[in-house]
Amino acid sequence: MLHAGMTVARINFSHGEHATHAETVQMLREVARTEGKVLALLADLQGPKLRLGHVKAGGMQLALGDEIVLTPHPGQPAMIQLPHPDLIAAVSPGSRLVIGDGEVEFAVAEKQGDTLRCIVTVPGLLGSRKGVSAPGADLAISSITPKDRTDLGMVCELDFDYVALSFVRTAEDVIELRRLMKETGCDIPIIAKIEKSEAIAHLEEIRDVADGMMVARGDLGIDMPAQEVPLLQKRIISCCNEVGKPVITATQMLQSMVEHPRPTRAEASDVANAILDGTDAVMLSNETATGSYPVESVLMMKQIAENIEPAFPYDTWRNKRQSIAPNSASTTEAISAAACSVAEQVGARAIVATTTSGYSARQIARHRPPIAIMAVSPSAKTQRRLALVWGVDCLLVPTFLHTDEMLQVTMQALEPFNLHANDTVVITAGVPFGLSGKTNMIQVQSIDAEKGLSLADDI
Ligand code: PGA
Ligand code: MN
Repeated sequence: MLHAGMTVARINFSHGEHATHAETVQMLREVARTEGKVLALLADLQGPKLRLGHVKAGGMQLALGDEIVLTPHPGQPAMIQLPHPDLIAAVSPGSRLVIGDGEVEFAVAEKQGDTLRCIVTVPGLLGSRKGVSAPGADLAISSITPKDRTDLGMVCELDFDYVALSFVRTAEDVIELRRLMKETGCDIPIIAKIEKSEAIAHLEEIRDVADGMMVARGDLGIDMPAQEVPLLQKRIISCCNEVGKPVITATQMLQSMVEHPRPTRAEASDVANAILDGTDAVMLSNETATGSYPVESVLMMKQIAENIEPAFPYDTWRNKRQSIAPNSASTTEAISAAACSVAEQVGARAIVATTTSGYSARQIARHRPPIAIMAVSPSAKTQRRLALVWGVDCLLVPTFLHTDEMLQVTMQALEPFNLHANDTVVITAGVPFGLSGKTNMIQVQSIDAEKGLSLADDI
């Protein structure tokens, strides 16, 4: 999968045990190291995902109009366990209960104490431990469950590059996770998974406190009508693009490849369209977790991306970049936007962002310049974290203190570009070097014919 194009691996804490997660992480790091690839690791906390208890082996085939009784108590014959009294309390006759990704659905007919009598409205096979959601029900439970807190300890210990929080409702949920991490002494960028209607209502506030977002279309399409998901996807993506925070588009992207070696044409279009919308990353779930064609799925995604990128609406994004309002940008933002314009105008082969935290590289990528972006950073963490960001490759370099050293590492970063005499590159940096968040310089360098292939070092 690494060779096929995987750049981030998600470990889903909804499944598996701590011991197996530790093994997986160790294996992924080892493989990335031996293969000389950059791989970021994303831990995905389950959040308040409510699940049914066990259903008989092989599942239960339900027909339209069948009656089902749900109870919070285990071991009741003729009933199915729904071990979430708070969910039962929050629904009433007429409420919908959507099972899994919507393959089965019940309508609550009657509530007697803590048991629910339901009627099957969407027939299908009911499996064990399937997710249950009650669209529109207001559950008074925190987005961070006791299980998430325990899992967070492991996430910090294993030093993940990103942590995703499921079922975020408000900015408070993200702030709470950050506070919990601080208590543990760790500081991992947070991806807010947008999969609840409440989160849609608080999108900008959540974006401002998170480090990125996920368009979690699976659960979002349950909590809200599926026909609204396409436009919501565009809104969530542009909300992140506006500020240069990475956004992931997830779920069912190549769903049919779970069982088939080729995607449907609709799926191929979906991946391409997410990229045209401005997503930083496209994600696979079942396709690579349980499917029969994990490597083929990754490769297909990469090939779709490579085919659509030349047709990206770079002109539209250039216009957006050039219409940044006066007094609205920080120095780094202004320098990053200007670097894109300068690079286009001089016909540069690449933009090289020297960066400690990765912030300037994200700000450059945010404008989607039609020119390669190379980040150079002394931080391996930054290098991995940038794997989630659109169009950025990052080279790990020794810390530099002087301009000569900077030019040296820049030349190293440009090796894959096969530069010729008079080729031009645009470099952004912060002077003095080595401080985070201080990008204040653009430099245009051309390749010196006389000195062999080195950058002309007169500044
Ligand atoms: P999940 O999140 O795969 O963890 O459920 C993504 C989604 O809901 O789309
Ligand atoms: Mn989800």
